[in-house]
Amino acid sequence: MPLEGIYGRNEPMTLVTSATSAIKTAVLPVAGIGTRFLPATKAIPKEMLPIVDRPLIQYAIDEAVAAGISNFVFVVGSHNRSLLEAHFGSSPVLEKILKTRGKSQELELVTGTSKGITSINFVTQDEPLGLGHAVWCARDFINDGPFAVMLPDDLVQAEPGCMWQMVDAFNKYGGNIVAVEDVPRDQTNKYGILDVDEDDGRIASARGLVEKPNPEDAPSTLSVIGRYILGPEVLEHLERGEKGAGNEIQLTDAIATTIGRVDFRGLRFTGQRFDCGSKAGFVAANVAYALARSDIPDDFKVLLKSLV
Ligand code: G1P
Repeated sequence: MPLEGIYGRNEPMTLVTSATSAIKTAVLPVAGIGTRFLPATKAIPKEMLPIVDRPLIQYAIDEAVAAGISNFVFVVGSHNRSLLEAHFGSSPVLEKILKTRGKSQELELVTGTSKGITSINFVTQDEPLGLGHAVWCARDFINDGPFAVMLPDDLVQAEPGCMWQMVDAFNKYGGNIVAVEDVPRDQTNKYGILDVDEDDGRIASARGLVEKPNPEDAPSTLSVIGRYILGPEVLEHLERGEKGAGNEIQLTDAIATTIGRVDFRGLRFTGQRFDCGSKAGFVAANVAYALARSDIPDDFKVLLKSLV
């Protein structure tokens, strides 16, 4: 049971089953400085803020590991590399104290942060030039094959996990795949939006992709959330460093330029997505994950009801 130690005794365990495939590497762009969460993010990087008792980034890693991914590339800023190394590395002093005190469950939680990980490589994104640029910074570790991109801000509560569902779809269809959900039309200017060709309700094949279109220009309301499986072709566009929406180098544009050569599909994943880049989404995620935990007493539900 590979993730037992990470989840603790009473939590559901995710197993790697049929969704094993060629996707072995995930790129996690985490160079942002988290201005929306100041002052919490003055000293603690955004991806290290906890949802209940585990940092946001741990959920993304566990989701990836459950999908058969074991190599990770963290695209970091100068502020957060050492904390990520501390979280995913060993902690001899803490481990010794827990061992001496016979706290075996806590010890498992500490050593379990890196369970299923074969490698973590760090690359630094010196300037905030956009998501496409962040992915391009990771190019040396992509090895000419398909790879995943995960934005830890987008937390997806799902069983099996969202990346597992993506890998499963990739095994069937290949090509470039993004996780998608419908958003209200007045929010299309916050997302990459698909220009849909065919749609069977779960898989939408697309003829185009536009970054943050105004509602009146949006080709649909089907929006990309932070889970991608991409082929190395996207790097050819990123190499050119062309700026797009918001004067940033956009991953959306790189994907769009491959359409025609590489099939492009959106997967309507099963699960609940929380935008943990916003305060409301972050708090909602904490509530949802707490409600799903067997070690948080029922009193919590009673308290919640009384508060709302
Ligand atoms: C990024 C992408 C966007 C995508 C979104 C998902 O935008 O550029 O296409 O829909 O992530 O969260 P950001 O949220 O970084 O502005």
